[in-house]
Amino acid sequence: MAYENILVETRGRVALVTLNRPAQLNALCNALIAELNHALDGFEADPGIGCIVLTGSEKAFAAGADIKEMQDRTHPEFYMADPFGEWDRVGRRRKPIIAAVAGFALGGGCELAMMCDFILAADTAKFGQPEIKLGVIPGAGGTQRLTRAVGKAKAMELCLTGRMMDAAEAERAGLVARIVPAADLLDEALKTAGIIAGMSLPVAVVAKEAVERAFETTLQEGIRFERRVFYGLFATHDQKEGMGAFVEKRKPSFEHR
Ligand code: HXC
Repeated sequence: MAYENILVETRGRVALVTLNRPAQLNALCNALIAELNHALDGFEADPGIGCIVLTGSEKAFAAGADIKEMQDRTHPEFYMADPFGEWDRVGRRRKPIIAAVAGFALGGGCELAMMCDFILAADTAKFGQPEIKLGVIPGAGGTQRLTRAVGKAKAMELCLTGRMMDAAEAERAGLVARIVPAADLLDEALKTAGIIAGMSLPVAVVAKEAVERAFETTLQEGIRFERRVFYGLFATHDQKEGMGAFVEKRKPSFEHR
């Protein structure tokens, strides 16, 4: 598939996807989301890929869903086409995905970043859910993921006023893992992805699943899940390798099995 709205490359075990509609500040049209999922399907199936970085441009990670594409939709059209069902697939990936955000991450752009496993933000990043100013509300998980990330008070204020928060506020609120200078964002994201991709892939997938469980279940059930998969890891080669390497004072060589 030839992509028109994203750029894709791989660097060793890391895949990099760059949203690429600069004239529209990476507004997320349906074709872009379809291309993104096509690329992610390929990376998920490729045992040579251990981590994915999703980024945008200096000015915008993404300024939202494409308003021009949406504006004339009718209810039955929207309901039957269910485009956000396709968005949802991005948030249900098994391999780790890092969002590297510079500039605007608004509306669907903020929601897309939150579908990733964590956000690295440039000091220029601005986050917000401004949909209320357009007469709608977030539709791709914003009211749910933002509230889980930053708590009710701030999520409610952001969704009701549509105001943006800068990178520092987003970090204080727990929305982003770390802030880096804009010039270093991509290098830092690729370096972090390289660290993750150097771990055992099945173990990283289990770690991701276990952390996600915290948002889906009770504490006791989550702990039961964690304990069960922890024991299960002792069936892997990479657990024996990781612990063996520590005891023998050498670097582990994971085989992703
Ligand atoms: C379509 C968009 C767009 C969008 C920007 N553009 N955001 N096109 N959909 N979401 C286009 C503009 O129309 C313009 O095209 C070009 O990108 C540059 O944008 P400007 O507004 O001229 O840039 P600037 O003055 O720097 O302002 C930047 C901005 C502003 C503050 C980010 O563009 C903005 O407010 N954008 C909309 C943000 C938003 O409301 N997002 C939520 C969308 S709804 P032309 O052709 O005029 O040059 C949403 C719903 C999610 O996401 C539901 C679930 C997915």
